[in-house]
Amino acid sequence: MTTELPEITRPTTGDVVDLILEDHRAFETLLRELRNDQNDRAALRGQLSALLVAHGEAEESHVYPELRRKDAIDEHEAEHGEEEHREIYEALLPLLEATDLYDEDASHALHELSETLLHHLDEEERDILNPARSDVADADRARLGEAWATRRNELLDDGCGSLEQVRSLLAG
Ligand SMILES: [Fe+2]
Ligand SMILES: [Fe+2]
Repeated sequence: MTTELPEITRPTTGDVVDLILEDHRAFETLLRELRNDQNDRAALRGQLSALLVAHGEAEESHVYPELRRKDAIDEHEAEHGEEEHREIYEALLPLLEATDLYDEDASHALHELSETLLHHLDEEERDILNPARSDVADADRARLGEAWATRRNELLDDGCGSLEQVRSLLAG
C-alpha cells in the first residue's frame, strides 16, 4: 500500500473562517481517500480521528462561545453544532473499534461517518461560518483564528483522537 497521506498543516494565524474551511476540505479529502480500498485505511483513520477531535474541540472552546457573545449565532445554533460534533464522534467510534478496516462492517461504518460528517460541514458552513463572515469584524476573526489554531495545534501535538479519548468525550 502506497497511500500518500494528505498533509495536515499547522497554521498558527489567519481568518478563523478560512482556517476552518481549510480543515473542512481536508476532511473531505480524508473521507475520499478512506473510500479507496487500495489505501492504508488505518493511517488515514488515525489522521481523520485526530483532526476531527482537534478541530471540533477547538471550535467548541474558542469559536462558538465567541460567536455567541458577538450575537453572530444564537444559542440554538451553538448547541446544534455541539450536538453534531457528538454525532460525529458516535459515528467515528465503530470505525476506531474496527480491527478489519476492509470488511463490510467497516465499509458501512465509513459510509455512516461520511454522511454524518458531510452533513455537519454543510450546516456549519451555511449557518455558522456565513454569519461569522458578515457579522464579525476582520480583526476579531483574525484574533479568533489564532485562538482556534493554537488550541487545535496543541491537541494535535498531544496526539488526540484515540479510541479511549473519543469514548471519554462521548461519556462526558
Ligand atoms: Fe468545522
Ligand atoms: Fe464543527
